[in-house]
Amino acid sequence: MERSIIIAPSVLSADFSDIRSALEDIRLSGTNWVHLDVMDGVFVPNITFGPKFITDIRPHSDLFFDAHLMIEEPVRFVEHFAKAGCDCITVHTEACEDIRDTLENIKSYGVECGLSIRPSTPVSEVEPYLDMVDLVLIMSVNPGFGGQTLIPETLDKVRRLADIRGSRDYFISIDGGVNSSTIADVFDSGVDVAVAGSAFFNAKDKRAFVQKMSRGQGDLR
Ligand code: DX5
Ligand code: ZN
Repeated sequence: MERSIIIAPSVLSADFSDIRSALEDIRLSGTNWVHLDVMDGVFVPNITFGPKFITDIRPHSDLFFDAHLMIEEPVRFVEHFAKAGCDCITVHTEACEDIRDTLENIKSYGVECGLSIRPSTPVSEVEPYLDMVDLVLIMSVNPGFGGQTLIPETLDKVRRLADIRGSRDYFISIDGGVNSSTIADVFDSGVDVAVAGSAFFNAKDKRAFVQKMSRGQGDLR
């Protein structure tokens, strides 16, 4: 069967004043994931939203809520994000005092857990935790803003994670600069989930966008 990856639109590029329409656009596009970028202005130089926002949108969407916490010491807020209705909570290795404890805390709420690294962090930093994570999120841009250019070297980390996966069943996800020009390389690197913020919300035909991108097809292949 033809391989297909999950496209996870990031609401970071949506109009926050009309978030219910954005969620509906995502649903109608045919994907079942939505990526929620949480930023605290400390771990990254930008601020977005917290658990209250997720609690408020949860009743309006059946999508898989993929929360990407770009916050310092995320363990302080795991309970809040879990109770807000996140389906997967991803934290950064660089932000955690105790990574194992943070992941265990997430799992204790029956929520899937993910671990992410910045472009400057080697993939060896996540390797000790691969037995306990459901997802590894490779940042292909410096976290903080949408609309940046994908750093091609980060795809080596995806290849490495795919190579060493063996019988473990973590998803490999990539985040930042995924668009119709980069999707062929992203797809070929072996990812399972590609986050797309600006490219998704700029696409006129979002259903066609998701259909093509999930098969690794962009404009410039
Ligand atoms: C950046 C965020 C990304 C961002 C991706 O810190 O983690 O999820 O929304 O945006 P694009 O797809 O525009 O690069
Ligand atoms: Zn993200």
